[in-house]
Amino acid sequence: MSEEKVLIFDTTLRDGEQSPGASLSIAEKLEIAQQLAVLGVDIIEAGFPVSSPTQFEATKLVAEQVAGPTIAGLARANEGDIEAAGKAITPAKKKRIHTFIATSPVHMEHKLKKSSDEVLKMAVNAVKFARTIVDDVEFSPEDACRSEMSFLIEILAAVIEAGATTLNIPDTVGYILPYEYGQIIARLKSDVPGIDKCIISTHCHNDLGMAVANSLAGVRNGARQIECAVNGMGERAGNAALEEVVMGIRTRPDFFATQSTGGLSTNINTKEIYRTSQLVSQLTGFVIQPNKAIVGANAFAHESGVHVDGILKERTTYEIMTAESIGLGGSRMVLGRHTGRHGFTDRCKQLGFKLNKQEIEHAYKRFLEIADKKKEVFDEDLAAIINEEIHVVEHVFELEYLHVASGTGTLPTASVKMKAKNETKQAAACGDGPVDAAYEAIRQATGLSPKLDNYTIRAITSGKEALGEATVRISDDGRTFIGRGISTDIIEASAKAYVDAINRMVAAKGGTAEMKAEL
Ligand code: KIV
Ligand code: ZN
Repeated sequence: MSEEKVLIFDTTLRDGEQSPGASLSIAEKLEIAQQLAVLGVDIIEAGFPVSSPTQFEATKLVAEQVAGPTIAGLARANEGDIEAAGKAITPAKKKRIHTFIATSPVHMEHKLKKSSDEVLKMAVNAVKFARTIVDDVEFSPEDACRSEMSFLIEILAAVIEAGATTLNIPDTVGYILPYEYGQIIARLKSDVPGIDKCIISTHCHNDLGMAVANSLAGVRNGARQIECAVNGMGERAGNAALEEVVMGIRTRPDFFATQSTGGLSTNINTKEIYRTSQLVSQLTGFVIQPNKAIVGANAFAHESGVHVDGILKERTTYEIMTAESIGLGGSRMVLGRHTGRHGFTDRCKQLGFKLNKQEIEHAYKRFLEIADKKKEVFDEDLAAIINEEIHVVEHVFELEYLHVASGTGTLPTASVKMKAKNETKQAAACGDGPVDAAYEAIRQATGLSPKLDNYTIRAITSGKEALGEATVRISDDGRTFIGRGISTDIIEASAKAYVDAINRMVAAKGGTAEMKAEL
């Protein structure tokens, strides 16, 4: 009996980007898509092209530049949406249109205000129209898990007739439990005429924390595609986490080997999981909780004496997978201020960063600054330094000087000197705390006051010299911008993150000239 493949359909750039507060620029989406291709996903859902010009452009750019995976564009079941999706994915070598319409009574009655007959007709017409553009068409009955089973069977049979090649069964509101989801997939597999010609796909949301369990229950019952997102990003509580479903299948081949298959596997290069997770976290500003399965900082850390003792005697006593299998650990090299450019470049390569000459120069300079303050620079620090240096936008504003005074019983005050091209501006302010004071001073110096939506700080590595990473989310005119800063001093990291976000906002507005004039 041969092993079967489970296709990984990544929707980080579409459903994932629908996470409240997540916002990616077109360049960032392309960077993530390129990494998803390195990771080995089979399908990238690059966006919902009709929903905005940016979504259209991002999907098109991914279709033009990312080789390997099939590129999918999402469309509601109407010709306008499908045409836009078709246009956006045209440049891709392998392309798919993913069209959907809701099939549950509550959605049909209240949202669509349509009868089930009308919905069925729209679904069939949409799939037929999509097939005039591409050969690979996926259909999703939205809110499938709260739909009538008889209607689900009817509509799926009809869209198969119309030419659908993948049938996706979304648990749109994260309502279903694993046993039930498995039963739904099994029933559809046995009762929908023609379904054996199609791939059955899972798309599970995590409102009850069941997204991964439901997806795997679906696979166990015959689904051969999982829709998922890196770090479990997505609407509300998110989608099934890519890293969890992939490692679930890899770690438990015994569970998935049935009478009809010799086992299941995916095409994912699991050694790229950690890097992909970090990249998505960095670019979206969504910090990963330490106890997050697979990619959390504690996922491979052992604290209890009994556990450490067991691990030292035999690793498998307390570890079901290795850190190396997701691209972590291995030889843990520590760099320091005596590390030369050559050693630094080598380590960057070993960690999988492909940097050009200029990026190496910038990253090395920053590395030396940090190594001067922090004797030991670990791989995680290096990754943060590189990410900070290569994700720069044009620096309209630069923080030249920051002084903060705070303490018990004193009013926190900050003074800053900001450089904007050839001019400098100074400002001083007080605030509720040192970060608040620094941010107020930055606002005065730049003359810009975006809304601060979110601020987080984390230590990249442990110890008293740990590098701190601040992430801020600001918004202006309904648009969101993420900024990051790293430093051994958390106030400095916070100020840098704020300035980084402001620079991104200015770059997005294309307003460098006017910003300069305003100073
Ligand atoms: O959750 C959902 O139903 C979706 C569909 C568009 C597939 O995201
Ligand atoms: Zn969804």
